[in-house]
Amino acid sequence: MTRPVAVTFAETDLDTLADLEGRVAVLVEESGRLDAGARRVNRLTKGAVARAVESPRFAKLKPGEAITLAWPTGMAAEAVEIVSLPRRPSVAEARKAGARVARGEGALTVLAGNRRNAAELALGAALRAYAFTEHKGEEAPAPGPVTVMVSDPSAAEAAWVPCAARVEGVYLTRDLVSEPANILNTIQFAERLEGLRDAGVEVEVLEEPDLEKLGMGSLLSVGQGSAAPSKVVVMQWKGGAKDAAPLALVGKGVVFDTGGISLKPALGMEDMTMDMGGAAVVSGVMRTVALRKAKANVVGIVGLVENMPSGTAMRPGDVVTSMKGDTIEVINTDAEGRLVLADAMWYAQERFKPAGMIDLATLTGAMIIALGHEKAGVFSNDDKLAAAFLKAAEAEDEGAWRLPMGDAYDELIKSDIADMKNVGGRTAGSITAAQFLGRFVKEETPWIHLDIAGVARVGKDTALAPKGATGWGVLALDRLVADRFED
Ligand code: BES
Ligand code: MN
Ligand code: ZN
Repeated sequence: MTRPVAVTFAETDLDTLADLEGRVAVLVEESGRLDAGARRVNRLTKGAVARAVESPRFAKLKPGEAITLAWPTGMAAEAVEIVSLPRRPSVAEARKAGARVARGEGALTVLAGNRRNAAELALGAALRAYAFTEHKGEEAPAPGPVTVMVSDPSAAEAAWVPCAARVEGVYLTRDLVSEPANILNTIQFAERLEGLRDAGVEVEVLEEPDLEKLGMGSLLSVGQGSAAPSKVVVMQWKGGAKDAAPLALVGKGVVFDTGGISLKPALGMEDMTMDMGGAAVVSGVMRTVALRKAKANVVGIVGLVENMPSGTAMRPGDVVTSMKGDTIEVINTDAEGRLVLADAMWYAQERFKPAGMIDLATLTGAMIIALGHEKAGVFSNDDKLAAAFLKAAEAEDEGAWRLPMGDAYDELIKSDIADMKNVGGRTAGSITAAQFLGRFVKEETPWIHLDIAGVARVGKDTALAPKGATGWGVLALDRLVADRFED
């Protein structure tokens, strides 16, 4: 488990600045006016801060960007970061500034003065400082503790409480996505989720015999070729009114996707360690809402399976029966995520009668062709819920874009011998996958499907994450819970 960097808020103490080790960040507004902290650092460095601020380079900085003064004279610090930031930064600007100064090793002290959104700045720093070093031999260079000096530490600390819960959730999601499939198989995944009990989440693990009894023939068909047992984990956070219908989050947890008998090509197959990204986001959100004690009822349901080719694996052409009772002709065993979600979503509705249901899945390669790694695909049967989610995603700067659904697309998954088939051909691959899921959504359930194939793990640094697992969706879904489901 990756521990987040320690974040503390302290009263500004100008007398200690000369002796601070590590890195010191000063925040300077566009006009170039220096606050008390920046003035002190400027004096200690014999005017270096003012010279940097007067340079054309500073004028070109966008909010949150910085100039680095390395090994400044007059200070023990190894660097002073001069960050361009308005006096009243937006949440996004504050996070960006935090993320910028979090790149680097060792302790960091930020002189935030009376700036608004100091806790959001710390959130940006903590999220950007993530590093997955679990399997590295030598001590990897680690970002050190973050101290934010502010004029009102107790106010900043209070604002930090929910931010810290969000950091914990995002870190859990990233850890789960980053782990390889030999270390995070279905058994180990379920064990990690049992750890959420510490935060007050009720956790149940349904085993294969339970799933058989429930009739989950669709989900079970995916894992039947693997030595790892299929599982469904049910997580409940009961922070809301006793009788309030919950929000249900349902995640695809394919711990590894070889494609099965419809085997994937070798090139890039190792990427399929992240095919449990949907389940990882669900887990992260559960951790966040529990740690911040959200006044809402939220259930998280993840289907944990491994898609392997073997003598017991499902074949193309097999017909399986879902928990709902509908039969599915499996044309391609590599379209397995929808088979897992079909039963997990049906179970979520039968058992919990949710006020809303959101599923997340690294479902289709076609999603990456459509939206790249910038935005996730949003599909929904409910304009209000979809709008609320898009608004939350926008506020958290997590890219999301709605795509259409409709009867004409549903035609494409008709089967000659069963109620439906599991692929719809080459065109509109992400939409036909959503149509397939839609067949397992009850009319009365407001539902969103999020196809996160492109955004769960990316090959370059992003605003708030180093290259690799992003944790996309944890912040937006946590905000949606706060906006729509808390009393
Ligand atoms: N897990 C994959 C989708 C995926 C691809 C996620 C690349 C992330 C990166 C999914 O199970 C899959 O294999 N989908 C097939 C569907 C096809 C057989 C209809 C695909 O996208 O090729
Ligand atoms: Mn697949
Ligand atoms: Zn898959």
